Amino acid sequence: MTKRLGILTGGGDAPGLNAVIRAVVKSATNSGIECIGIEDSFDGLIEPGRSRALTPRDVTGILRLGGTILGTVNRGNPFADLVPTSDGPRHYSDRVFEMFHRMELGALVVIGGDGTLAIAHEFCKKGIPIVGVPKTIDNDIVGTTNCFGFDTAVDFATDAIDRLHSTAEAHRRIMVVEVMGRNAGWIALYAGVAGGADAILIPEIPFDIAVVAERLRERDRWGAHFSIVVVAEGAFPNGGIPLVIESAHGGNSARLGGIGVQVCEALHRETGKETRSVVLGHLQRGGNPTSFDRMLATRFGGKAVELIKQGQFNTMVAFAPPDIVARRLEEVVGKTKTVPHDFDLLLTAKALGVTFGD
Ligand code: F6P
Repeated sequence: MTKRLGILTGGGDAPGLNAVIRAVVKSATNSGIECIGIEDSFDGLIEPGRSRALTPRDVTGILRLGGTILGTVNRGNPFADLVPTSDGPRHYSDRVFEMFHRMELGALVVIGGDGTLAIAHEFCKKGIPIVGVPKTIDNDIVGTTNCFGFDTAVDFATDAIDRLHSTAEAHRRIMVVEVMGRNAGWIALYAGVAGGADAILIPEIPFDIAVVAERLRERDRWGAHFSIVVVAEGAFPNGGIPLVIESAHGGNSARLGGIGVQVCEALHRETGKETRSVVLGHLQRGGNPTSFDRMLATRFGGKAVELIKQGQFNTMVAFAPPDIVARRLEEVVGKTKTVPHDFDLLLTAKALGVTFGD
């Protein structure tokens, strides 16, 4: 029976991280399990001073807060690095393993996205008992219908599209809004449909700008002199590739972006209309989680503690509506959940006249 667990957050932040931490700390403590909060992802296991005991008092009031009280890092492959420690240089993963045992931890709750969960899986193979919790605004983790953070990001992007509508209409302009999502179009699709966009460009469907322009000209012909185009940061034209701001290096993923401006300029050339573009960027990751994300994060945290009590390690909690279930980590890591071409929301959007540029 686990007496003490460690909890950490890794990868880019997502609204709801604190709600998971709170749920884990409260439910574990109520089951007689002590909780140690580890700072800055696995880095917090390098030195003893980078972790602290968490009691229900420490997590009171954090349910509604964005960010993470534990800090997070979104870089590097810990298995590749030699790190300086107070006991001399160590291979990162050996040090994590050593400290896990020195701190007398019985298990780790690792809250992270695809990269962090893949690292967690490697640590499981080295013998650290781990339960993963899927987090990302991109909603691209395999095995779970939703990750917490996604709903909040979609809500924010939808509000931004609503605001762009009024100014687009007033000036008879085309407004292009670039949203996050890496190589998956979930945020663009959901926010685009919820915001009533006229074109939605996603990585799963390479677009033809002439097709998009014709759709917007058609709107002009029937009297709608403005249009909203939502572009996922990973979207790209037929025969092209996603635009990279910074290439992948040393275990870090490539940073995507810039396609919104390109689409904006191309639509101006193609239609002769005034166009403007906006990039929502990290605003999508900030702010308080929606009630849906608070609930999902809380359910994930509670389930993670249940799995630890049952000794079900090397697993990830997942949402399979209406249930919270356990998945094996090896079944979910190293894959990306993208929007299927026959997804009903995509088909419905097309049926309503939204163009995807195909
Ligand atoms: O994975 C979440 C995400 O916000 C992506 O949508 C985006 O491409 C990336 O992280 C940005 O990462 P960073 O915070 O390193 O700029």
